[in-house]
Amino acid sequence: MLLEGLDLFMDSLSKSKYIVALTGAGISTNAGIPDFRGPNGIYKRKDIPGEKIFEVSYFQQNPADFYKLFSDMVDSYANAVPTKGHLFLKKLEDIGRLKTVITQNIDGLHQKAGNTNVIEVHGSFSNFYCISCGKVFPMSEKIVSVIRKGNVPVCDACKGALKPDVVFFGEPVHGLEKALTEVQRADMLIALGTSLSVYPVATLPSYITDNTMLVIINAEPTQYDHRAKIVLHEDIDLIVERTKLL
Ligand code: APR
Ligand code: ZN
Repeated sequence: MLLEGLDLFMDSLSKSKYIVALTGAGISTNAGIPDFRGPNGIYKRKDIPGEKIFEVSYFQQNPADFYKLFSDMVDSYANAVPTKGHLFLKKLEDIGRLKTVITQNIDGLHQKAGNTNVIEVHGSFSNFYCISCGKVFPMSEKIVSVIRKGNVPVCDACKGALKPDVVFFGEPVHGLEKALTEVQRADMLIALGTSLSVYPVATLPSYITDNTMLVIINAEPTQYDHRAKIVLHEDIDLIVERTKLL
């Protein structure tokens, strides 16, 4: 099954001219960054109140819980290097086949890998803003050192808590219009390392046209498997190795 799917995948890649990738946390797990819903996901941790930790109303009441989670993750983010999955998408861009990466990830690894057209629909850690007065603070060593100690970074103007410009549940997603246009232009949409379970991003694959081939590479089944031409339930890096494209 796997090899069959792989041959068809390789053959389809060679014929595609407008590939769009839709990635999730699973493309970064081999870089040491945990996903959310996989077997070792963040939401499985007993010391975390599940998805609540990413709810904006919960953050406003308990910013310390969020930063406690990130105190032991901030270094894994800073030291993470792109996986074979990230490098595979960079290679597809270099050979002119991949046009856009739509990512739910906030780890910046697609940019580190060198992809140039990345839509970070769930934001990123590049900027923080004060939840009281709105003042914006670019990510800095100072903020990282506060977070590393498990403390809450605060605004130097009003002492309000700083929040990263990451999209929490209850906040509008970034770049959704552009992402939708790209999905509708694609002749191949590859979903990599995402459970495709969080809306509105999880609606994107439903907007593919009849000339778009949906490919899903994910360790676990997703709600779109039945609509995909190719489904590979396997480790992304293993699939990339088998393509011999790197
Ligand atoms: N290879 C293939 N699949 C993998 C790998 C891997 N190396 N590692 C993990 N996976 C799969 C998991 O089995 C899981 O199905 O990746 C998927 C990741 O799914 P989630 O943890 O739900 O992550 P994601 O889809 O990115 O979540 C979307 O939810 O909490 C919010 O904002 C957060 O952006 C996140 C959004
Ligand atoms: Zn402030």
